[in-house]
Amino acid sequence: MGYKICRIPGDDAGHDVMKAAMIVMDALNLDIEWIDADAGWCMWEAKGNTVPPETWKALESTDACFFGAITSKPGVKGFKSAILQIRQRLDLYANMRPSKSIPSVPMNYRDDLDMVVFRENTEGLYSAVEARPMPKELIGILPNLERFADEDDVAISCRVFSRKGCERIIRSAFEFTDREGRKKITGVHKANVIRQTDGMFLEIFRKVAKEYPNIETNEENVDATAMWLIKNPQSYDVLVTTNMFGDIISDEASQLVGGLGFGASANLGKNYGVFEPNHGSAPKYAGMFKLNPTAQILAGRLMLQWLGENEAADKIWNAVEKLYADPKTPKTYDCKGTANSMEVAEAIAKLL
Ligand code: IPM
Ligand code: MG
Repeated sequence: MGYKICRIPGDDAGHDVMKAAMIVMDALNLDIEWIDADAGWCMWEAKGNTVPPETWKALESTDACFFGAITSKPGVKGFKSAILQIRQRLDLYANMRPSKSIPSVPMNYRDDLDMVVFRENTEGLYSAVEARPMPKELIGILPNLERFADEDDVAISCRVFSRKGCERIIRSAFEFTDREGRKKITGVHKANVIRQTDGMFLEIFRKVAKEYPNIETNEENVDATAMWLIKNPQSYDVLVTTNMFGDIISDEASQLVGGLGFGASANLGKNYGVFEPNHGSAPKYAGMFKLNPTAQILAGRLMLQWLGENEAADKIWNAVEKLYADPKTPKTYDCKGTANSMEVAEAIAKLL
């Protein structure tokens, strides 16, 4: 059966890694029709809109999206991150970010890591409920804001959680753990301080956990997780957490297996998925083909898995493992090599 995939390279070196990853995707000879579209800073400059209407159309008329990397610049009035808009409007509430060691990758902390972060993807601090100046009425409604009454410049960013939002990400993590025969889930929160939002998240985590007596559960404050990920990373299996905590600990988890050149993610909703590397668009390397394309290639693998093309997905993983196992194959600078993104992708394609 053929697929229609929306392809969005994004900005800067997003184009480089996308071009490289396409060598691998094309070598798999799958029946895919690619629909090209643009999003990101490039569209902000060209059209004043990071996700223009024709891009929404491309997203809405395809089975999935293969996404490169974008630039999100702070301090630009009216600017909205393309990927955040896409996650919210398409309701891609689960961001799944696996970190599995590939033996012989330099900077690997250990060879036996295999963890998956489930990050809530539509709520929390990234839902753009913000104001500057903070509306004065809030001072009266929320008594703990009284001390700001005399301030002339107060900014506020709200962390909004819904029961439904918490429940669906927690359920996705448990369903995945159960389906994959994994053993343990760690719920990551800060409910001892952020008592309302994280308190609700933790309460729902405990409730859903009761339905899965065979899965070992563990609760941790996020600061402790940040430390334990370095001290004892092999003790983690699946982690489930809220939007910003997931953003942070998934970068940490990527570094444990070799850096952002190895971190890929699936943004999943009910019927659609957007697959991307966790890294940004590295503007200073734009067009230089310097970045490690492995994260983008592994994003392709996650997409194929989600489409049910497991054989092709496994071929990618095996080829990537083979590439890194062999000291003579080309590697990018992050792996102490001198090859460019295209050479690494070509070598992976040969090993498929
Ligand atoms: C990520 C990125 C994005 C995020 C940025 C680009 C908006 O850091 O996917 O982890 O914060 O979610
Ligand atoms: Mg991030």
